[in-house]
Amino acid sequence: MVTFATYLLASPKNQMTPQVAFVSLTLFSQLRVPLFMISEMIGLTVQTMISNTRLKTFFVEEELDSEAVQRENSNAFEKSIEVQTATFSWDSDRNIPATLRNIDLTINRGQLVAVVGKVGSGKSSLLSAILGEMEKRQGYVGIWGKCAYSSQQAWIQNMSLRNNILFEHEYDQLRYKQIIDACELTRDLEILPHGDYTEIGEKGMFRIKTVINWKFFKKNFKTGCGRF
Ligand SMILES: Nc1ncnc2c1ncn2[C@@H]1O[C@H](COP(=O)(O)OP(=O)(O)O)[C@@H](O)[C@H]1O
Ligand SMILES: [Mg+2]
Repeated sequence: MVTFATYLLASPKNQMTPQVAFVSLTLFSQLRVPLFMISEMIGLTVQTMISNTRLKTFFVEEELDSEAVQRENSNAFEKSIEVQTATFSWDSDRNIPATLRNIDLTINRGQLVAVVGKVGSGKSSLLSAILGEMEKRQGYVGIWGKCAYSSQQAWIQNMSLRNNILFEHEYDQLRYKQIIDACELTRDLEILPHGDYTEIGEKGMFRIKTVINWKFFKKNFKTGCGRF
């Protein structure tokens, strides 16, 4: 309508004939799909640029030293975690002061330990250091037995809820049910449109993501194990 009105008002010579009207309408309908695709393309281009930046940041990250933490997969020892005069940093640049300095810590099997401190004092960093995710500048870190970390923000991938729980492990019906019960997810699964096949994660259902984040956290906290 706006195009036709502009055409008629632009010049008194312009006249609305059937030829002009029908040719224009055909052209508009042919343009509709390419225009729609352009808007899609813009969105996809922006997404590609963002993903590319994220991938670049990830790929240029320095490799972690796999020898920083000594691991012994055995429950035969009383000790579970030991850190001796260790200094850890988030940056490999030695000129930057280390985040954690002279840490001495021994945690025995079955011991409950609470680390208390102000925000930014390094509580989360201590856990990352024990997992070997920080740069160890000096000292010793040892872990005996299995170790799992339940982050406050569970890492959820953009795939079905079931695959997020299984995480590449084989499906074992009984164990799967135990996990669902332990996480109190049975009721949540009932209300989901496709049960545990519902897609969650970044493009999935946000509310479910929040609920599951919390429940994964609770489950990991209760059972002290990783995912499945
Ligand atoms: N993943 C990280 N990468 C780089 N620096 C980090 C990271 N996590 C924490 N830090 C830094 O380590 C310091 C301690 O933070 P954090 O361990 O998160 O404290 P808390 O858990 O006690 O609040 C802060 O200066 C913070 O900026
Ligand atoms: Mg923290």
